[in-house]
Amino acid sequence: MEQDTAYLYEQACNFVAEASRLLEKPLQENALIESKRNVDDLVTEMDRAVEELFRRRVTEYFPAHGIVGEESGEKAPKNGCETVWYIDPIDGTTNFVHQHHFFVISVGIYEEGHGKIGIIYDVMQQEWFSAVRGEGAWLNNKELPKRSSVKPEEAIFGLNGRWLIYGDKQQVCRNLTAKVRSTRCYGAAALEFAYVAAGRLDGYISMKLSSWDYAAGFVLLEETGCSYQTVQGGPVISFNEQGIAAAVPGLDLWLQKQLQETGIDKK
Ligand code: IPD
Ligand code: CA
Ligand code: CA
Ligand code: CA
Repeated sequence: MEQDTAYLYEQACNFVAEASRLLEKPLQENALIESKRNVDDLVTEMDRAVEELFRRRVTEYFPAHGIVGEESGEKAPKNGCETVWYIDPIDGTTNFVHQHHFFVISVGIYEEGHGKIGIIYDVMQQEWFSAVRGEGAWLNNKELPKRSSVKPEEAIFGLNGRWLIYGDKQQVCRNLTAKVRSTRCYGAAALEFAYVAAGRLDGYISMKLSSWDYAAGFVLLEETGCSYQTVQGGPVISFNEQGIAAAVPGLDLWLQKQLQETGIDKK
C-alpha cells in the first residue's frame, strides 16, 4: 500500500477507535434524544459528539480535507477539497437507542470523487469491516474473498419493512421478497452493505439513503467484487439522497431487471 494511503487508513482507524469508546456504554436515562423527519429518524447527543470528534481530528491531522457528516447539515463538500470524508457518526441510531446493539460508525474517504477507503465498525460486536481501493477488503484484518454469484432463490436480502407502506416501493419490495430465499432487516444501512461484502447477505436495498450511509459501503462492495445501482436500476452518478440496491455479482443483473421492470419513481 502507498505510504500516504497507509497513513490515511491508519489515522482513520485511530479516529474510529477513539470515537467508538464514546459509544460503548448505553445511553444514560436522561440523555437527549430528538426525532428529526419522522419517528424512526432519531438523533442523540452521542451522534453529535462522535461527529464533532471526527471534525476535530480530521481538521487537526488533514486540514485540507473536506468533511460531510450527517449531523452537520452539509450535504456536499466545500468546493476545492480533493479528499472528502463522508461520516455517519452512528449508523443505526434507532438500534443504538433501543437495543444498544447493531450500530456502526461509518467512514468513507473519497479522492476526486473516487472511493479510496471504507471503514465500517460495529461497536458492540467489535467487528471492523474495511477496504482500501485496489488493496482488498478485510473483516478484523482477515482478507475478505471476492463474492461469487448466488441464485435469487438462494439469496438473503437486507430490506426494511418500512418500504412496504409506499406505493411503487411496496411493489418492488413485494416482488423481491417473493423471489428470494429470505429477507433481513438489521436497521443500519452501512452494516448491511458490509454484510453483503462479507458474505452474510447477498443483496441489500433501501429506497432513500444519503452519502454518509453508502460512501464507505461502496468501497467495501467494490473490493469484494459486488456492485451497487440506483433503485431505478441505473448507475449511481451522484452522491445525492437516493435509493440504492447492492448485490453480489450475477445477482446484480437479475436485480437490475427486477428494478427496471417494476419502475420506481425518482421521488
Ligand atoms: C438510517 C439507518 C437505517 C436506514 C435509514 C438510515 P441512521 O441511518 O441506516 O437502517 O433504513 O435510511 O437513515 O439515521 O441510523 O444513521
Ligand atoms: Ca439519522
Ligand atoms: Ca445512517
Ligand atoms: Ca447516523
